[in-house]
Amino acid sequence: MGSAANPLRDAQDRRLPRIAGPSGLVIFGVTGDLSRKKLMPAIYDLANRGLLPPGFSLVGFARRDWADQDFAQVVHDAVKEHARTPFREEVWQQLAEGMRFVSGTFDDDAAFDRLKSTIDELDKSRGTGGNFAFYLSVPPKFFPTVVSQLKTHGLSDAGPGSWRRAVIEKPFGHDLKSAQELNSVVHEVFRPSDVFRIDHYLGKETVQNIMALRFANTMFEPLWNRSYVDHVQITMAEDIGIGGRAGYYDGIGSARDVIQNHLLQLLALTAMEEPASFGAKALVTEKLKVLNAVRLPEDLGRHTVRGQYAAGWQGGEKVPGYLDEEGIDAASKTDTYAALKLEINNRRWAGVPFYLRTGKRLGRRVTEIAVVFQRAPHSPFDATDTQELGQNALVIRVQPDEGVTIRFGSKVPGTQMEIRDVTMDFAYGESFTESSPEAYERLILDVLLGDANLFPRHQEVERSWEILDPVEEYWETHGRPEQYAAGTWGPKAADEMLARDGRSWRRP
Ligand code: BG6
Repeated sequence: MGSAANPLRDAQDRRLPRIAGPSGLVIFGVTGDLSRKKLMPAIYDLANRGLLPPGFSLVGFARRDWADQDFAQVVHDAVKEHARTPFREEVWQQLAEGMRFVSGTFDDDAAFDRLKSTIDELDKSRGTGGNFAFYLSVPPKFFPTVVSQLKTHGLSDAGPGSWRRAVIEKPFGHDLKSAQELNSVVHEVFRPSDVFRIDHYLGKETVQNIMALRFANTMFEPLWNRSYVDHVQITMAEDIGIGGRAGYYDGIGSARDVIQNHLLQLLALTAMEEPASFGAKALVTEKLKVLNAVRLPEDLGRHTVRGQYAAGWQGGEKVPGYLDEEGIDAASKTDTYAALKLEINNRRWAGVPFYLRTGKRLGRRVTEIAVVFQRAPHSPFDATDTQELGQNALVIRVQPDEGVTIRFGSKVPGTQMEIRDVTMDFAYGESFTESSPEAYERLILDVLLGDANLFPRHQEVERSWEILDPVEEYWETHGRPEQYAAGTWGPKAADEMLARDGRSWRRP
């Protein structure tokens, strides 16, 4: 039985909440969609949960000619519309007192001087202690200007005993070269350990649960390898189109938008070895090791597919095709669907394909990782008994119906030995009473705490571009994406790609 020491008494009490110390956040690009829909509500939700310090301060920086009150009103409306937790006037009032707005463009020296005095004033009036994170929710072409302005105006230098951090939204470049350039620009100003690159998928509970499932249990890991696994399917399907994001999306496309970051991070967590500890360094070591072992198949024409949505029906509504969306060039070759096969050249995974797919305007919104197992090497049953039996599978349901499903064969009640697939389900909603925080709540809190576990390091970002670049180059010079009707499951070529391997995509 257990040892004399009581590990529960020695361990830090996990029920004590992690609360950020004195600090503030400056958001560049504060008038954008992300800020309104995700960042502002997340900050309020953190305050409402008591996880922010009493003097927490929020500074918006943008071109608008707003006073502090106008900015506070915008945050107020965003919170009312998008926050996860109920609105409480007293929480709001305390938060609103620490809101400031600095009006200016990124090349405006006077505006950065005003930002500096605003921060100094907050340190005095709100006790932020010189601790500020700068959140760059702006297109990458502005990164160099903003970070060099921060340096020039003395904003990136933390005084003794305080910190300054940079938070960077995706897209982090559009290929390996541009990502390397951005990294070197940012690292000239901030130490690597003070740079937090956001991949909001890592902030999702279900994504962190991949590690819990694999490394806190004994029953899955022995099967998690080429001896038992036939293949892995990682799907991120969305039912929405590009909405008002034509400016960002066209020329970028689905593979750069989400495979380079979210899907390769999911692959890394699914396929990596157990980290030596649950610390940022150990995690990055393992993620990077497995990403370094990822290989593209030689024939990219056979093992990659891209598509573009055509008009169709979604939720009983007729929706336009991509080329008819506002702001899209009628000849655009941008992919709104991408699928690829990857291999992992190591002892655990050799010969096990990882199929990744993503798309907009697909049948429904679902993100999942399906580990599909090999068939039993021998069956004592008649072939007719098992004709409806599929392959065993373990499916991590990332969203929206968060949980885990295990699929296996079971005898159908009756006088015959007939075996059919059944499922065993774990659902977050049933097992836990507390609802999951939004990814951005978790990640903003981690930035303020200086906890880098859930942030990809620059080597991972660069390696992910290195994996994707040859695919993008191949697509650039080979034809156009295949059209698929909105509301369907993507181009026919994607089904054919798996059929050639004797497999098929799951229909979640
Ligand atoms: C973003 C992409 O990173 O993730 C969007 O840029 C996509 O195109 C979004 O819609 C999906 O996020 P979520 O959390 O809704 O799955």
